[in-house]
Amino acid sequence: MSDLTQTQLLQRVKHSNRPNGNPRVQKISARIVGDLFRAIDELDIQPDEFWAGVDWLSRLCSGGQAGLITAGLGFDRLLDIRLDEADERAGRNAGTPRAIEGPLYIAGAPLSKYETRVDEAGEAQRGETMVMEGRVVDVNGQPVAGAIIDVWHANELGRYSHFDPDQAEYALRRRIETDAQGRYRFRSFLPPGYAIPPNSPTSELFSAIGRHGNRPAHIHFLVVAPGLRTLTTQVNVPGDSFIDDDFAFATRDGLILKLEKNTSAKGYESLGVKEPFTRVPFDFVMQPAADESEAAPQARVARALA
Ligand SMILES: [Fe+2]
Repeated sequence: MSDLTQTQLLQRVKHSNRPNGNPRVQKISARIVGDLFRAIDELDIQPDEFWAGVDWLSRLCSGGQAGLITAGLGFDRLLDIRLDEADERAGRNAGTPRAIEGPLYIAGAPLSKYETRVDEAGEAQRGETMVMEGRVVDVNGQPVAGAIIDVWHANELGRYSHFDPDQAEYALRRRIETDAQGRYRFRSFLPPGYAIPPNSPTSELFSAIGRHGNRPAHIHFLVVAPGLRTLTTQVNVPGDSFIDDDFAFATRDGLILKLEKNTSAKGYESLGVKEPFTRVPFDFVMQPAADESEAAPQARVARALA
């Protein structure tokens, strides 16, 4: 083995022109490795800094936080912005805006028709009672019957079931199928905002770069319907001090809820509402799917969860 210059080494590790490789992976791998080589050289990154970074990355991934750091460093929103730009170019910018899925979606939540409780009946008050309701419609305003709305949000401590061992399976996760008029409604409580886990690889990086790790209060949705483009979005509860300074850059115009406080309980008895509550009207407007793959449940941004 002869001595190598930086350039010669990069040529050798780029894996290009290997006939058994996947050309797309070869291209992406070569580009990212090349960019990192250049960053190490131009920033004069020292061995101890490099190995501290590798150690951090190992701890981040073994702790299941890779999907958290991608949101915090803007990658999730970047992917949405690129899709928005492609839609704009194609004249497809109508409908409810998309917003990042985040790493905490779990498939298979209990399914109800038209209405459900997302919180549990009979438990102690966990926050301001709300009923969110509206319709799923297409871009022409026609109701969409049989759409499946997946909803998930954090508990009063800012934690999500499945990832929090103190919560029941599918707690605060439900699916609702719209009725013949495209309607849905569910009862829950307004969730609080939350922060990234303290004393974690994610918080280590954020404290080192001088950023906070807070997310404003929000509720996640995934809406699927035949022939329509799968919609992944989240809506914000107004009044949160982090609404314009979200750790994950996810706040969007058109996705900030309007709260109708002190709505009469009349007509909401089937959801167990007995006192004036906060009504949250919201319609989901779905684009037509360009092809089968855009309408499939897996058209949501796919990711493997640790
Ligand atoms: Fe969330």
